[in-house]
Amino acid sequence: MARGGRLNQKPAEIFQDMTASAGFDGRLAPYDVVGSLAHVQMLAAQGIVRPSEARKIQQGLKKIQQKIEKGTFKSRKELDDIHMTIEAALHRLIGSAAGRLHTARSRNDQVATDLRLWLRDRLVALDGDLQALQGALLEQASAHIMTVMPGLTHQQNAQPISFAHHVLAYGDMLDRDRQRLAACHGRVNESPLGSAALAGTSFPIDRKATAAALGFDRPMANAIDAISARDFAMEFLAVTSICSLHLSRLAADMVLWMSTPLGFVSLPDSLVSSSSIMPQKRNPDAAELVRGKTGRLIGHFTALASVIKGLPLGYAMDLQEDKQAVFDAADTIDLSVRCMTEMVKGMTVNADAMAAAAGHGYTTATDLADWLVRVADVPFRQAHRITGRVVSLAVRKKCDLEDLSLTELQKIDPRFTAQARRVLSPMASMQSRTSEGGTAPGQVRRALVRARRRYQKNFL
Ligand code: ARG
Repeated sequence: MARGGRLNQKPAEIFQDMTASAGFDGRLAPYDVVGSLAHVQMLAAQGIVRPSEARKIQQGLKKIQQKIEKGTFKSRKELDDIHMTIEAALHRLIGSAAGRLHTARSRNDQVATDLRLWLRDRLVALDGDLQALQGALLEQASAHIMTVMPGLTHQQNAQPISFAHHVLAYGDMLDRDRQRLAACHGRVNESPLGSAALAGTSFPIDRKATAAALGFDRPMANAIDAISARDFAMEFLAVTSICSLHLSRLAADMVLWMSTPLGFVSLPDSLVSSSSIMPQKRNPDAAELVRGKTGRLIGHFTALASVIKGLPLGYAMDLQEDKQAVFDAADTIDLSVRCMTEMVKGMTVNADAMAAAAGHGYTTATDLADWLVRVADVPFRQAHRITGRVVSLAVRKKCDLEDLSLTELQKIDPRFTAQARRVLSPMASMQSRTSEGGTAPGQVRRALVRARRRYQKNFL
């Protein structure tokens, strides 16, 4: 189709294998038709194409649209890509009038328009999925404001926190992911249509009209930029990579919580697998794969950034490499988010195991040091050293801090009183952290109210 005139030989099979995007660009079909409908309507309104021919084109495109909806329309390799396949189908339906559609347009602005339209829909859908995951996290958080668990640093028990406090951290991360998606949407939603090959066109087109008809915020200002920019796609890949990293951390936490020594949470049978040899196993395969698929998403960003690197302005076929990365990233993040939502919803919490673990590893040592500062007016650095000696004693005696008697404490520092021992329970410790953003129930309730407000907000 794009041959015929200048070129006299049929394309070599290997050339087509290398250059055709038909194998993966079929999902742009509905957007390509919508873009063409807007374009031809504008061409008619501007007197560039006769109304009778424009009508024929529109009718033909609508028939193609129905075929696409039925799923019977396929991009054809011998025609290069979806754009040429649709144009050829139009030709078969209405004859030579079809040849008027490509006036004042090029595949360069066409494909950029299609991909932006496709991505816009996926951004809205992804935001909805993220919102559902956020909702599931907030549900779990509100049920576990008083559930104490060990908070970790260096993957060692550090200080007691509530499970709600931990889960809400993910809610906030997802809130930022949704903000990033919304910002990305703003930059995706600009129209390249009418930029033609790269220089604009000599026809009196109305780019504002096509932009408005397609729901874009505005036409892109510079025609070369419009056809060669892929930062919108890279931004999507960067945003999905970051989001996926957040899911990966949640997945890693889940795997840890389900590990044999901890047993903090369990997933329903429907969301775990067993082993082909060890019948006792309940493996968190899906969580591990959410974590694993993050590598793939980061890979897609790296792949497209590497394609763009060193590419001078204008269109080059290198740019065709954008689509598989963007398509697979959208599918992968969608699967991960929806799967994670089911796991968060289905997760049951073993509060006893969490509470028992919360006291292990001298997690309330900081509370004892803080007590010396608060009640005995000891400088924190000094209180830290004294408490260190208390911990050493507990280590030597192979007991918890709570098991040490007042006499033993007073042997280390006479300023300890009976009251000091009360700060050693994990629950008391958790409840005492009342600073803004802390794990105390009052703070967590406030954080929940804020998070619910953000969750209900529709960014897109
Ligand atoms: N299939 C091409 C792509 O995906 C469409 C644009 C082709 N443009 C061109 N000048 N050959 O980018």
